Amino acid sequence: MPRTSPPPLFFRNAAQLLTLAGLPVPRRGPALSELRILPRGGVLTQGDEILRVGRTRSLEREALRMRAEAIDCRAAVVMPGFVDSHTHLVFAGSRVNDYELRLRGKTYEEIARAGGGIQSSAQEVGKASVYSLAKQARKYLEQFAAHGTTTVEVKTGYGLDIAQELKLLHVIRRLQKESALDLVPTLLALHALPASFRGRCAKYVEIVTEDLIPSVARRKLAEFIDCFCDRGAFNVDDCRRVLAAGRKLGLVPRIHAEQLTHTGATRLGIEMGAASADHLDKLSAVDIRALARSNVVATLLPGANFHLGLKSYPPARKLIAAGAVVALATDFNPGTSPTLNMQFVVSLACTQLRMTPAEAIAAATVNGAFALRRADRIGSLEAGKLADLIVLDVDDYRDIPYYFAVNHCLMTVKRGGIVYSRI
Ligand code: NIG
Ligand code: FE
Repeated sequence: MPRTSPPPLFFRNAAQLLTLAGLPVPRRGPALSELRILPRGGVLTQGDEILRVGRTRSLEREALRMRAEAIDCRAAVVMPGFVDSHTHLVFAGSRVNDYELRLRGKTYEEIARAGGGIQSSAQEVGKASVYSLAKQARKYLEQFAAHGTTTVEVKTGYGLDIAQELKLLHVIRRLQKESALDLVPTLLALHALPASFRGRCAKYVEIVTEDLIPSVARRKLAEFIDCFCDRGAFNVDDCRRVLAAGRKLGLVPRIHAEQLTHTGATRLGIEMGAASADHLDKLSAVDIRALARSNVVATLLPGANFHLGLKSYPPARKLIAAGAVVALATDFNPGTSPTLNMQFVVSLACTQLRMTPAEAIAAATVNGAFALRRADRIGSLEAGKLADLIVLDVDDYRDIPYYFAVNHCLMTVKRGGIVYSRI
């Protein structure tokens, strides 16, 4: 769909304007708390970009000259749109049956071994058409926008063979063309071993490496490549082979690491120069130090811990204290984290990971942008960046996690266009 240039907008008098402006580097340690708040702040957009950010008074004249549409934000917090850097958006059906089985005492891994879990989602995807997969994902994307997310990473992974993985990538491409939000495609090349390859894991890895990855790279269908490196999934050697094959063809690695067990996946991510290592529940002290010395973004997904009913959460405080780059994402998927609400993830990060509201907001915006290698365009409100911003129905940013599990979002602006509003 050709996008026409949106008319200029003038967000006036925000109770708090969280700019998250700063040096173009990922936020570590104490810098994670620096939201750079402007009271009575204003933002002036032009086309899909931010033209100016400052005190409202200093922008009035230019806004008038441009005939910008004024939006009064007197009682609101205005901040960058959330950057959700880890989702499995495209799937068919749901896994509400697994959910109830878990509530009755089965574990995630027991259900997976019995043919539920990722395998059952793959069966559903196998039966679904591109049309129906896109239709379901489109409905979720509307909800992402309504909850203030403006950029969404989207993984494949429920295909489990070449044709089905390509089908998922075509769904993502179709959604990219039509959605107001920016979607960032990731080939989740190793997610679960298909039942038909039981006992022949090496063969499956070979097919992925020699057929799937080149097909995807040739058609430029993905930007990143990911692997689920864990007990019951794939080992470090298999993941190394696959990530290296992807990297050779221009796909940037990221990795599901240390979610269920400690495997050494984080160190593999560092070795591969991954954009991010995600989950990190079972990190060792050595991993934490290594992450802190690296540029790999430590992406925490507390929605999965919450939904699985776990008592323990990833060690956010230790990561921040060590100086690692911490980001937050939803992990939106049918099995372990069926939430697309980054505001709720921010609440979980505060209550369960003991992050401060400021740290959690920076982790959910600017550091998420670094995890997607897009921090030059998104993640903060600064002149020249994309006009991706949200207006929230609170006058103190700490109320975002404090009043938990409600949608505070009044308006979502993506590339300068209003894509959701209940003002
Ligand atoms: O990020 N860990 C692997 N992948 C997903 C869960 C997939 C599923 O259970 O469907 C995750 O938690
Ligand atoms: Fe995931």
